[in-house]
Parts: sequence; C-alpha cells; structure tokens
Amino acid sequence: MKKIGMLTSGGDCQALNATMRGVAKGLENLFGIGEVEIYGFKDGYKGLIYGNYQKMKPMDFTGLLNKGGTILGTSRMPFKMMDVPTDDGVEKVPAMIKTYKKLDLDCLVVLGGNGSQKTAHLLSQNGLNVVGLPKTIDNDIWGTDVTFGFQNAVDVATHAIDCIYTTAESHSRVFVVEIMGHKVGWITLYAGIAGGADVILLPEVPYDMKKVYKAIEKRTKQGKRFTIICVAEGAIPKEVAKLPKKERKEAIAALQHPSIGYEIADQIRAKFSADVRVAIPGHTQRGGSPDAYDRFISSRFGAKAAELIRDRDFGKLVVMLNGQVTAIPLEETAGKLKYVDVDNQAIQEAKTLGICFGD
Ligand code: F6P
Repeated sequence: MKKIGMLTSGGDCQALNATMRGVAKGLENLFGIGEVEIYGFKDGYKGLIYGNYQKMKPMDFTGLLNKGGTILGTSRMPFKMMDVPTDDGVEKVPAMIKTYKKLDLDCLVVLGGNGSQKTAHLLSQNGLNVVGLPKTIDNDIWGTDVTFGFQNAVDVATHAIDCIYTTAESHSRVFVVEIMGHKVGWITLYAGIAGGADVILLPEVPYDMKKVYKAIEKRTKQGKRFTIICVAEGAIPKEVAKLPKKERKEAIAALQHPSIGYEIADQIRAKFSADVRVAIPGHTQRGGSPDAYDRFISSRFGAKAAELIRDRDFGKLVVMLNGQVTAIPLEETAGKLKYVDVDNQAIQEAKTLGICFGD
C-alpha cells in the first residue's frame, strides 16, 4: 500500500483540482485500484503543520476536471516565515515532518507556486519524499515554460480587455486595465497582445510616462477615439527603477496605493484632461472553470507526478520544456523567478505592430 499526501498552497488558480485528479488517476492506474491511499491536507501547509487532513476516497477525485478552485482549500504561508513559530507556538517544519512520519507517507505532492516550492525543497532537504507541481497564474516559476493556471488567467484578462474595448470606443475614453502577475508581466504581455492593447506596461520594462503620452497623442492624431493601456500590477516607472533598493521599495509601495493603474490614470488625466477610467479584473483572473489548455497540461503534469512517485524519483518539480513534460530538481528552481526577458520575441513583434511599452 502506498500512502501519498497532497496539498495545494498559495493563491489558487483554475486547474488545481484538474491537476490533483490527474495525480490520483495516474496513481490508481500505475499502482492498482485500492493500492494507494491519498491524504489531502486542508488549507495548504497549515494542514500539514496541524495534522488537519482527510483520507480521500476515489470518488473525491471524480468530476474535478472542470471545477475551479481547490477541494482541499489553500492558504499563504510565506517561506521566509517557515522558521518562525505559529501564533500558538508551533515550530512549523518539525511539525510538518512529524505529521508526514505519523501518517507514514511515501511521498508528499505539493501543488504550488514559487514560495510553496521553496518550502517543498526545504522539506525534501529534511528527508521527506516530495514531488512538486507548478501552479500559478503568474507563470513565473523558473524552469518550466508554462505553469497551470496561466493560460486561463490570460483568457480572463483578454476577455476583460475585449469588454473594455467596446465601451472605451463608445465614450472616447482612455482605459487603464490593470492585470495581475505579482512581480512579472507574463499575463499582461499575452493578454495585452491578444486583446489589442495600444500600450503594454510590464515590471520588466520600466516605463517613461512621456512615451505613454506620445502613444495617446499619436492615436488621437490618427482619429482613434480611444486608447487601451494594459498595465501589470507590478509595473514601475523608470525613475523608480533607478533608485537604490530601499528607496525603490518605499516608492513602489507609495505608487501602488491603491494600485498602479490609478496612479497612471491620474497622470494621464492631469496631462490631457482626458476622460480616463481604470478597470481591474483582479481575482476573476484566478476564478471559474479551467479552459481546455489548462486541463490538458494539468492532466499531463498529474500523470508525470504519478510516474515520479512510481519511480521513487523524489525532490523533483514537474515542468514543461519545449512541449515535453519532464522534471527538474527542486533545488534548481527554488528561490528563482522567471521574468519576461526584455528581448522576448513577442515584445519585439508587438513593437513592430506599433504597441508602446513605455520604453
Ligand atoms: O500569485 C497569484 C496572484 O494572483 C498574483 O498575481 C497577485 O499579485 C496575488 O496572487 C494576489 O494575492 P491575494 O490572493 O493574496 O490577494
């Protein structure tokens, strides 16, 4: 009998359930019906710390392919706080090891983003058998071409831009659409191009407002009735990017209150006395049912995780490289972010199309 623990950690996304289903189906198929017990930990690492779990039944994994969210619940537990005891004085890492050993698990499967995979690596260094699965709408996990959840967020953000497009045109407005992505601009880049944005501002390409004004002026001169600016929530102006780390952090905090989209809209209003609006799709980018692509890759990722467990190939993160699902050591990815490369071909092509990046 194999005993496998499973948890979902960090911000949710649409294909978490589909991925867990993939793992469960793969395990049942590889080891045989009734040969695997799966323990689902509630609310991420919290469940592992407090021994809050449920023994899953095979039926728990049916009907999940198109169900968004996570049947296990999730929570954020920052890696940097792992050596800080919980409010009620529990030492987190020893408590997680204790739960794992008490249940006599053969492996812990962690569906999570960057921080969660760092913790997965820490547990692996502490002797636990761990397999990671790359979850995040942000697509910023180093070592994989794509994460599950990303495509769906791009779809939702693109749909939001499509909806803004018509109303912006009716009212001759400048619209700032602020897109999620934390410190990286993947969703904004893809949705911005797919949605036909006129300006795309990414954290990786610090912007100059003068360039943004020029782009708006150019459209007005061309007789265009509206402009759509797609800005990543982590985008920063050029002047701020140049500051030393501490000052930069303070300036970003000030700028992003309530959020960068409002800051940019205020500046455009002051410059042109234009009719400017801000639209923020926010957490809708993480909600709803997974699309076909995310179901496709999460099923493949799940199958790969089951194979790693069968082969006792632990301490690995399942990844996609050039269309092939494979695995890399957790230590290779832990602590690194996958940023948009400023020489990214898509950026160059978008510039050819006349899209302004504010640089
Ligand atoms: O990491 C996913 C993400 O949606 C980011 O894009 C965003 O910055 C953050 O999570 C929002 O976090 P929360 O759900 O805690 O508000």
